[in-house]
Amino acid sequence: MTENPLPGTASEPIFELSGVQYTYNNRQVALDGIDLVIRPGEQVVLLGANGSGKSTLLKILDGIIAPTGGRLRALGLDIAAVVDGFDAFRFHREVGLVFQDPDIQLFSATVMDDVAFGPLQLGLARDEVAARCDEALGLMEIRHLANRAPFELSGGEKKRAAIASVLSLRPHVVLLDEPTAALDPRTKWVLVNLIRRLGEAGRTVITATHELDIVPVIADRVVVLGEDRRVHADGAPAEILGNRDLLIAANLIHEHLHEHGGIRHSHPHAADEPHVEGHLVDGHLGPGDVEADPLAAAAPWTPLAGIVDPSVVAPGPGGPG
Ligand SMILES: Nc1ncnc2c1ncn2[C@@H]1O[C@H](COP(=O)(O)OP(=O)(O)OP(=O)(O)O)[C@@H](O)[C@H]1O
Ligand SMILES: [Mg+2]
Repeated sequence: MTENPLPGTASEPIFELSGVQYTYNNRQVALDGIDLVIRPGEQVVLLGANGSGKSTLLKILDGIIAPTGGRLRALGLDIAAVVDGFDAFRFHREVGLVFQDPDIQLFSATVMDDVAFGPLQLGLARDEVAARCDEALGLMEIRHLANRAPFELSGGEKKRAAIASVLSLRPHVVLLDEPTAALDPRTKWVLVNLIRRLGEAGRTVITATHELDIVPVIADRVVVLGEDRRVHADGAPAEILGNRDLLIAANLIHEHLHEHGGIRHSHPHAADEPHVEGHLVDGHLGPGDVEADPLAAAAPWTPLAGIVDPSVVAPGPGGPG
């Protein structure tokens, strides 16, 4: 899994961003001064609400668009030069991006053609191309879709095909934009475990998401992008997920204030979790509710309690398959 040698030493950063800005059409600010160093083998989650700049940052890391301000060195190259074509072939062999929208990634007549496209571009022998396609389709459990047309697939099937089309390149650096969006629970956790295994195999994996429940499984570091398009926090998953005020400020969980029978109370939700009414049970607050007074607010915030299924977050050797 590590046949493409990376430039430099193990401690040389993969990505080094200083003051990176990106403004669309001279008008829409998407990134507003990002300083970040990512080293080989790191498992990073980019956590941010809608519009916080996650996809823009991944496109910059993948050398698709150049920063409109600041500097980014990637694999020892100036990313602006890569965007202009300098060493772009080598760069894209080593860095692969799975787009948020699979329709951008899939353009061939069949899934197999899309998955084979990258290895064929590398000029690999037919046997090697076939082996890589089989491996990637197998990892995503979509061998049965190999001869289907991408536009005929369901959203989740397209997502898996798009990921397979990047994995077949066996890139050292895997960038994933909302990989678990729109997946059913089984597929989601199969994929989460795959992402974890990519990391365990030594890949550098950067995953953009706002789904908190996958973070402890796939990250050893979490970078929080705020709605001001700047980095709000950068730390260990437990530290970030345990910081309720940070998560509320970054719009990753939200706090509902309720008034029932004259009693005001509040409780946090994951940002994409639907709100369920009826927290008062026999005039008392229901499980998970927190009184909106200073003393009650000091009650411990338990990140993800009851959300993460422990049976899927601790795969045995080789994972669940
Ligand atoms: N093609 C574009 N043209 C103009 N503005 C854009 C374009 N793409 C994104 N933006 C703007 O840039 C900002 C960051 O968008 P981006 O897609 O990077 O956010 P995101 O964190 O990936 O959001 P989401 O969670 O919704 O995918 C947003 O304000 C968005 O409106
Ligand atoms: Mg996005």
